[in-house]
Amino acid sequence: MARVQSGTPCATIARMTTQPHTKIPTPNGNLALKALQTILRTRSPLPALEVFHGALGKVFRANLPSFKPIMTAGAEWARWLLVEARESFLWKAPKDPIARLLRDGLLVADGEMHDSMRRLMNPALHRNALVGYVESMWRATDRIAEQWQPHETYDMLPEVRKIALLIVMETLFSVDFMPHITNYWAALLHTLRYISPGIWVLWADVPRPNYRRALRHIDNYLHQIIRLRRAHLTQTGAQPNDLLGILVSAEGVDDAMIRDQMLTMIIAGHDTSTGLLAWAMYMIGADAQAAQRLYDEVDSVLGDAPPSMEHLAQLKYLDRFIDETLRLYPPAHLGSRIAAQDLTHEGYLIRKGERVTYSIYVTHRMADYWQNPGDFYPDRFLEKPVPYSFLPFGGGARNCIGAAFAQVEAKVILARLVQRYRFTLLQPHVHMHMAVTLEPRPGVIMRAVRR
Ligand code: HEM
Repeated sequence: MARVQSGTPCATIARMTTQPHTKIPTPNGNLALKALQTILRTRSPLPALEVFHGALGKVFRANLPSFKPIMTAGAEWARWLLVEARESFLWKAPKDPIARLLRDGLLVADGEMHDSMRRLMNPALHRNALVGYVESMWRATDRIAEQWQPHETYDMLPEVRKIALLIVMETLFSVDFMPHITNYWAALLHTLRYISPGIWVLWADVPRPNYRRALRHIDNYLHQIIRLRRAHLTQTGAQPNDLLGILVSAEGVDDAMIRDQMLTMIIAGHDTSTGLLAWAMYMIGADAQAAQRLYDEVDSVLGDAPPSMEHLAQLKYLDRFIDETLRLYPPAHLGSRIAAQDLTHEGYLIRKGERVTYSIYVTHRMADYWQNPGDFYPDRFLEKPVPYSFLPFGGGARNCIGAAFAQVEAKVILARLVQRYRFTLLQPHVHMHMAVTLEPRPGVIMRAVRR
């Protein structure tokens, strides 16, 4: 598949660059100090972003040594970046660890390569395919939860990570990952650390010695799965019935390309869901009233039956509970693009090659769109949010290909856990940690007792 650059020049955008431009504001010393105090108080850089946006408006430029992205927030900028000016931006910043890790994976690819891969993979993640995944989802939940002992305490973050990993591997690649979790756990966490925000932001070539070994371990495993599937399809002539089958059967898609897509789905498809589920479990423990409404709804809709697609349609409060969790704690809290040409928006000049980000986190907490934005209040979703003010799955043509999958998955797992367990939160003080996705730290420490 040919590597094609996107960024078709847009006549209106090009013409606008001849207008006089407004300078993009940067934080001064006092504001930087205020932001630093916020970071120290909240133990997270995200509320500091709110400080900058509050003082400087919806656009400002971060002013770190060798890292000066344009930071935007709000529905208008998100719509512009993701939809209106989409053709003028690239996703891939080749030196970013995520691009080095995923190579030609859907998340980081651009142009025709991206679009054709997305068309190829879409059917496996389309709403129609999800009915067939529901049973795998609740069974994976049971397999992990049945290991819990009533008097033990557990950090729900790794517990839901295991569930999410089992589900991605089973539904998309027909692989039972349970016997392999222990073998690949450390390597997976190592790989996630490699792409988490860190010193590489300022020093792109910082040595990361153990990462290579971890990645080799995972790559060998993925290539073994691909080889076995290729052999199986050749011997039996069977029709592909999952994402791996689609990829292996597609013309012109070699093993290296399949590895890139598999790793993309494993990383993008489990780490985000882990973040969402961990925060949802935290809210079940932290908000007794909301939790009670969940229990009442799940009991009346499911009774003793395992969740089915028909049940999911009736779990309306669970929908709102999940949306509110995604609003306050969006696992993918920031999107990033690289300008493929000079362009102008709202009088600001953006130069070719500059990085422009949109903050999902800040947008989800802006008083312009949300009343009492810091409160956890699921019923606010009884009303439709302003378009592009709620974008946990991004927007436009590059929105999350797994959005429907993730919503069904979260509903199945949470409904099944609530149906079968009572949870007690033992450590209510958590802060938002910016790993690859937004995680509760030091963890969601809970006791789970079978109902
Ligand atoms: C709660 C769960 C999830 C959240 C919050 C989430 C969030 C997002 C967001 C915000 C984007 C767009 C990023 C951007 O604009 O740059 C995205 C893209 C993507 N997501 Fe998800 N995601 C989730 C689950 C999943 C799942 C389950 C899968 C796969 C099984 C997946 C696969 C992808 C891929 C491949 C892309 C890139 C799509 C493209 O560029 O065409 N995600 N996700």
